[in-house]
Amino acid sequence: MPKQAIRVKTAVLISGRGSNMVSLAKAAKADDFPARITLVISNRPDAAGLERAKALGIQTLTIDHTAFHTRRAFEKALDAVLREADIELICCAGFMRILSAAFVRGWTGRILNIHPSLLPKYKGLHTHQRAIDAGDKLHGATVHHVTAELDGGATVAQTQLEILPDDTSDSLSARLLPLELALYPEALKKVAFQLQSAKS
Ligand code: GRF
Repeated sequence: MPKQAIRVKTAVLISGRGSNMVSLAKAAKADDFPARITLVISNRPDAAGLERAKALGIQTLTIDHTAFHTRRAFEKALDAVLREADIELICCAGFMRILSAAFVRGWTGRILNIHPSLLPKYKGLHTHQRAIDAGDKLHGATVHHVTAELDGGATVAQTQLEILPDDTSDSLSARLLPLELALYPEALKKVAFQLQSAKS
């Protein structure tokens, strides 16, 4: 029997409901998935995703950013926890903290994020409304590598959908979500395979 490559130990960072995290975690339950989700960290103690992760049997942790005086101190604590847990890859999924250049430098090529726009369009917030206001015909979501430039790292995968004439920010976001939930596991799979082959 061929020897199975060791699955990439992955942490998911969340701030809220955690539906992308659940989608990643469920996909990663498959034995042949190249990554496994071993830790979910929230910067908010009240994030609904924490309970959802526990229900899936995943270890969870809150690192409340408001308990730290500086971004640097918060990130040092985050970095220490991730390294202590032997994490190899980080997936940001609705994680509402900007990661500094110093933090990102320590994890080059090992942090992914999902952003609800067709990057490079609409970096930052309010992406659905901005796409509607611009009269765009197409909208979507992007999984990208995280670099020091906000929403600026290389694209791993994208999904797109048509903007309908009566779409609102809410309706567009609701129609996009299922596409995001399908996209992120595929993107994680791709990057985890790359990391596995770099190791072997
Ligand atoms: C998703 O729409 C994602 O694109 C954006 O924030 C939302 C997170 O939702 N970055 P959830 O916490 O995964 O449910």
